[in-house]
Amino acid sequence: MSSSSSTQTIRPARNFQGSLTLPGDKSISHRYAMLAGLAEGTTRLSNFSTGADPHSSLACMEALGATIVHKQDKTIEITGTAGKFRQPSAPLDCGNSGSTMRMLAGLIAPHPHTFTLIGDHSLTLRPMERIRKPLGQMGAKIDLTTNPGDKEGHAPITIHGGPLHAIDFDTPIPSAQVKTAVLFAGLQANGTTSLTESIRTRDHSEHALRAFGATLNRTSSRGGEVTKLSIPGSQTLKAIDATIPGDISSAAFYLCAALLFPDSNLILDSVGMNPTRASLLDVITALGGKIKVLNVEEHHGELIGTIQVNVSPNGLRGMHIGGALAAQIIDELPVLAAIAPYTHDGITIRDAKELRVKESDRIALVAKNLRAMGAELTEHEDGLVIPGNQSLHGAQIDSGTDHRIAMAFSIAALRATGDTEIHGAEAAAISFPEFFTHLDNLCQR
Ligand code: S3P
Repeated sequence: MSSSSSTQTIRPARNFQGSLTLPGDKSISHRYAMLAGLAEGTTRLSNFSTGADPHSSLACMEALGATIVHKQDKTIEITGTAGKFRQPSAPLDCGNSGSTMRMLAGLIAPHPHTFTLIGDHSLTLRPMERIRKPLGQMGAKIDLTTNPGDKEGHAPITIHGGPLHAIDFDTPIPSAQVKTAVLFAGLQANGTTSLTESIRTRDHSEHALRAFGATLNRTSSRGGEVTKLSIPGSQTLKAIDATIPGDISSAAFYLCAALLFPDSNLILDSVGMNPTRASLLDVITALGGKIKVLNVEEHHGELIGTIQVNVSPNGLRGMHIGGALAAQIIDELPVLAAIAPYTHDGITIRDAKELRVKESDRIALVAKNLRAMGAELTEHEDGLVIPGNQSLHGAQIDSGTDHRIAMAFSIAALRATGDTEIHGAEAAAISFPEFFTHLDNLCQR
């Protein structure tokens, strides 16, 4: 663990109650930051994510020639480059952020400069061949770093940018980051790029592109199973004013906490309810949560709602999570796994091999930390089988410097016997710096 590693002690709670407005969605913040950097004019964003990751995207935009102003009222103004990024004077530092690295690669590849993309240790372990392939087909020359005995390519990445041509691309893995890299490159290529996905991933890029004035078509076939997106090239973007919805992936931690206490009551204001993310709410309901949607509005294609969550008096059921659902709630799987032992019938997670190449190997780390708390489970290459009706005890938790692991086990700790110590707790700041403060306010002890 690094010298700046911090430990948080989590005491068990008696109840979980309160209301809160969450900082802006990480995925939407990245996309608005990047498109604002490319657009003409000044974009004004309210409720931008407070997480370190989207701030890596902002810093990259600044290095590429955009002007960023943090206003006193917490809005962020981004004056874009009107379609012309400059040659950055230093490598573009993506920090811990896979979203920054992959989406940015598509955004900058059409520009006639040489770009180097770097990141922290965790980011240099993550697979990057998935973006080199489509961008290479479009004509971009991209050098990845390979390690002996490892076929996969990684960061640091060097992109020798220049004019790109349109392609028809069939996404082999469900990844919104790869889809976005192709759409962002297609937006600036010659001709119309099309892309199909057989598992529909989060569609924030599609909404964001339209919000910034781009044309983009979506059709579906095979009974809605296959989505085809087409984006004409050589398009220009115009700045927007926007409020970013609260992050539903951050909400997931508190929604799961609310499930653990029979008298819980949680109200979340202005949370993102985009249908490609909101299957989490169906999962919470299937597990025994009662969700009331108090109001819903739409901003730039994104749904924002206020929700109230309680728990059914019959307690928590279990469930199987696999197929498209596993891909759609991939970021929420660690916290669902962490509360699985407290359900009646347990939770099975399959078809989630991608969890092994996130900020950490999330399957292995969830298994290790659940076992440290006394749980029994079976680990599979693509998931976990976690029986229900188990009680957990406080333990030493290793976050693996992964934000979602640090937060997931802070929630499991609320119903354990004895205190739990989360080592590497500072990782939460990657997506949700206020996580421990809000947790403390919502817990009754
Ligand atoms: C994201 C897509 C997902 C997700 C990540 C954010 C996005 O990654 O895990 O946290 O904003 O597009 P993949 O595209 O690699 O599945």
